[in-house]
Amino acid sequence: MKINVDKLKKSYHQRTVLDLPSAVFGRHSIEGLIGPNGAGKSTLMGLLTRRIPATEGLINFEIGDSKHNLMPLQSHQVAQLGLLKTNQRIQGFDKLSIRNSLRLAATPSSDETLAGLFDKNQQSEEIENEIDTYLTKFSFDEPDGFARSAGEKKLLDILRCLITKPKLLLMDEPTAGLPEDVTQLVMNEISDQVKQTNIRVVIVEHDLELIWSFCEYVHFLSDGEMLFQGTPEDVKANRVVAEKYLGL
Ligand SMILES: Nc1ncnc2c1ncn2[C@@H]1O[C@H](COP(=O)(O)OP(=O)(O)OP(=O)(O)O)[C@@H](O)[C@H]1O
Ligand SMILES: [Mg+2]
Repeated sequence: MKINVDKLKKSYHQRTVLDLPSAVFGRHSIEGLIGPNGAGKSTLMGLLTRRIPATEGLINFEIGDSKHNLMPLQSHQVAQLGLLKTNQRIQGFDKLSIRNSLRLAATPSSDETLAGLFDKNQQSEEIENEIDTYLTKFSFDEPDGFARSAGEKKLLDILRCLITKPKLLLMDEPTAGLPEDVTQLVMNEISDQVKQTNIRVVIVEHDLELIWSFCEYVHFLSDGEMLFQGTPEDVKANRVVAEKYLGL
């Protein structure tokens, strides 16, 4: 599974904020995407999930032998293919309780076939069990109330994505604003799912300790350009990364 990017460009008012002649994401189980503020990391994730329209270029999502051109698709169609994104800034969550948000996310939208109807009871029991497991593992103040704190909203955003069982999950600063113990829980959950399923994850983070300890491969973006890619060891030792980002 991987995303291939070809001559991908994003400009706002003639100013180019991202320019990737070619890049591949998702070849490793957990990859990092790092770079200074304004490098274009969130923009890139928005482009890959088609939430932000590209100025030019191609994006292909390969799942096994099938290749999907994402350019004609809208973001909900990209999500149906199994490519999802968690958000750096969280909005919403004011209309549904935590439990109902997870139920809504977990319910397949296209199960209205006859077989789907027969399966429904069993399916909803499985979903309810899964939701209970998440709600026990990640202790929310009031699982049947709203997510109130920024941390709870962020956590719910992540769990909503995980419960849909994406094939490739892009996470934009997943642990910024989460308490240390919840960060650990989230990262352990991601590691477990990576081991147990075929899910691939790309993480944007400024917390470099997290990147070095969880990622097999790291992409370094600066001023809209991919300046270096490699293993955490390679990236740590790279002079350009050190100068432009690590402040060494
Ligand atoms: N809607 C927009 N209109 C104009 N410029 C934008 C828009 N969105 C992003 N930019 C610009 O694009 C550049 C890349 O922004 P982006 O949010 O992708 O950076 P980032 O790497 O995610 O930064 P951070 O680490 O601070 O989250 C920045 O210079 C930003 O100001
Ligand atoms: Mg960002």
